[in-house]
Amino acid sequence: MNANIVVLAGDGIGPEVTNEAKKILTAVAGKFGHNFTFDHQLMGGCAIDEKGTSLPDATVEACKVADAVLLGAVGGPKWDNPNAPDRPERGLLGIRKALNLFANLRPVKVHPQLISASAIKEEVLAGVDLLVVRELTGGAYFGPRKEAGEEGYEAYDTMLYTRLEIERVVRLAADAAMGRRKKLTSVDKANVLASSRLWRRVTVDVLKDYPELSVDHVLVDAMAMHLIRRPADYDVVVSENLFGDILTDEASMLAGSMGMLPSASLGDVMNSHKLPLGLYEPIHGSAPDIAGRGISNPLATILSSAMLLRHSLGLEAEAAAIEAAVDTVLNEGVRTGDIAHTGTEVVGTEVMGNLVVEALKV
Ligand code: IPM
Ligand code: MG
Repeated sequence: MNANIVVLAGDGIGPEVTNEAKKILTAVAGKFGHNFTFDHQLMGGCAIDEKGTSLPDATVEACKVADAVLLGAVGGPKWDNPNAPDRPERGLLGIRKALNLFANLRPVKVHPQLISASAIKEEVLAGVDLLVVRELTGGAYFGPRKEAGEEGYEAYDTMLYTRLEIERVVRLAADAAMGRRKKLTSVDKANVLASSRLWRRVTVDVLKDYPELSVDHVLVDAMAMHLIRRPADYDVVVSENLFGDILTDEASMLAGSMGMLPSASLGDVMNSHKLPLGLYEPIHGSAPDIAGRGISNPLATILSSAMLLRHSLGLEAEAAAIEAAVDTVLNEGVRTGDIAHTGTEVVGTEVMGNLVVEALKV
């Protein structure tokens, strides 16, 4: 298969972790007889510096004709002035909207080898395997807003949702649950928010098409608690944009380190493989404090490239091969600093990538 993958390396540790993921993708292509080309484009702080905008038109155009997009991370102290007219995060929100990436999939699996790296008790973590599906192009992130500006005394954001926006993401989550343990938890705040009452009504309607699913509706504050107390009880969790943002940071702590968690942002079916165009990125940020030192953990980006193969190229065996290779390396006791513990061997970013490539070739 031929595939055109746009790489948005971004800022901070973004370039170093995407480099490792590219190495793995190239190794997969070699092993399975594919041809992947990588088209590097600018987004985030680096794009502000070089092009004067966090999201150049050329980047959007390149992504639109790509089969998939691999992203490192954006942001850093250099561009951190909250009143600046453009910020790296604007590029990220802009590309999500421009590509209509309405569903953000964040799987949280606790690798048994890493249980001791988590701040949560071992018995709570046993068997945790959940998938959070976060709505990504609606709600308070994109609704009408008023900035207070320097002098103002009033500001607002609007958590606006339409029926269609809710329907499509809930359907995607329900389909995912059908392929897993057939449990779906929809999270809202229907006791207070009008948008949540619509969310719940539409969800109930959509799920009539999925009689086999066991479904529950949970308020977001309660969900924040359940996620820490009994995370293994959940399978697929679906939620609106802002709640999903918060819950996925919380859920990432179950896995020990943000350095392990991949994500996929999926849009409509529009790539040349008749699969959703998707943007794949680690859920961690650009970690400017450790950028350039060669110590960052590339595994979340490598696992994101596995999701890329699965969801946008339909290459399930290839995706599984990457995941198995990561497991092999963890079983060998090799770790980057963020997930190291007594008895493990600490390696840098590049060595970790090379070891995954080696494990994949076996
Ligand atoms: C995320 C991030 C982004 C978000 C920021 C960087 C805009 O926190 O992907 O979860 O809030 O969506
Ligand atoms: Mg977030």
